[in-house]
Amino acid sequence: MAYPEAKDVMFTSLIIVFISFAIVISHGGLQFKGYISEEGKIEIGEGKIKLPPPILKGVMSVEEAISKRRSIREYSKKPLTLKELGQILWAAQGITEPKRKFRAAPSAGATYPLELYIVVKEGGVEGLEAGIYHYDPYTHSIELVKRGDYSYELYKACLEQQWVLDAPVNIVIAAVFERTTRYYGERGVRYVYMEAGHVGENIYLQAVALNLGTVAIGAFYDDRVHEIIGSPKDCVPIYVFPVGHRV
Ligand SMILES: Cc1cc2nc3c(=O)[nH]c(=O)nc-3n(C[C@H](O)[C@H](O)[C@H](O)COP(=O)(O)O)c2cc1C
Repeated sequence: MAYPEAKDVMFTSLIIVFISFAIVISHGGLQFKGYISEEGKIEIGEGKIKLPPPILKGVMSVEEAISKRRSIREYSKKPLTLKELGQILWAAQGITEPKRKFRAAPSAGATYPLELYIVVKEGGVEGLEAGIYHYDPYTHSIELVKRGDYSYELYKACLEQQWVLDAPVNIVIAAVFERTTRYYGERGVRYVYMEAGHVGENIYLQAVALNLGTVAIGAFYDDRVHEIIGSPKDCVPIYVFPVGHRV
C-alpha cells in the first residue's frame, strides 16, 4: 500500500482548515454570543444567550425601593452587565412559579400577552454585541433578532427624547392583544395595558434596587418602534424603558 506524501497531507489539511473557516463565517463569524460565568465558562445554547440566574434576595427592601423610585433621565456611559440586564428582565417577566409557569407580574387569566424586546446600544452591555434581542422567560435567555445599534433610530421614533439615545439599553414592552382579547373580548384591551403597567413598575423598582435608573416612555411613533424591534405583525410596542447607570 502506498503512503500519501507529506505534501499531499499538507494540502488536504489546508483544504480542511479552509472549509472549517468557511463554515464558521457562513454561520455568523466568530462573534461572542455568550457570557463568561463566574466559573469562566461561556454559556451559549441553540442561538440563545443564557442569562445569569436572578438573585432572589437583594440588599434593599421593597419599601426602600418604592420610596426611592424616581424617573431617571440621565445615564452614564457605563455598560450594564449581563447579570444586571438579566435581573431587570426577570423582574419584568421572569418565571417565578416554574410548575405553572407563572411570571413576576400578574396577568389576566394568565394569558401573558406581553413580549420584551431589548435594544442594546454599541457597548451597552458587557460582552454583548449591539442589536435587538427578544427575551424568553421560559429559558431566561435572550435571542438576537437583529444585529446593529438601533439606539439612534429608537431616539428618533421616541420624539427625540435624549434619554432614549443615552441609555445603554432600552427595553420595549410589546403586546399580542389577541392572547387576552380571545378570552375577555374588548375588555381584554384594558387588561393588556394594565399588565404593562405592572411590568413597568417592576422594572422601575428593580432598577432602584440595582442602583440603576429608568423612565417610562409612552410618547413614541408606534409604527416606527414596531419596525425597529422587528416583532411579528400582531406584536405591537406599547411602552419603552431606557435603563442605565445614574450619573
Ligand atoms: C404612561 C406614562 C407615560 C410616560 N411617558 C413619558 C415619556 O414619554 N417621556 C418621559 O420622559 N417620561 C414619561 N413618563 C414619566 C413621567 O413623566 C413621570 O413618571 C412623572 O413625571 C412623575 O415622576 P416620577 O416617575 O419620578 O415619580 C411617563 C409615565 C407614564 C406613567
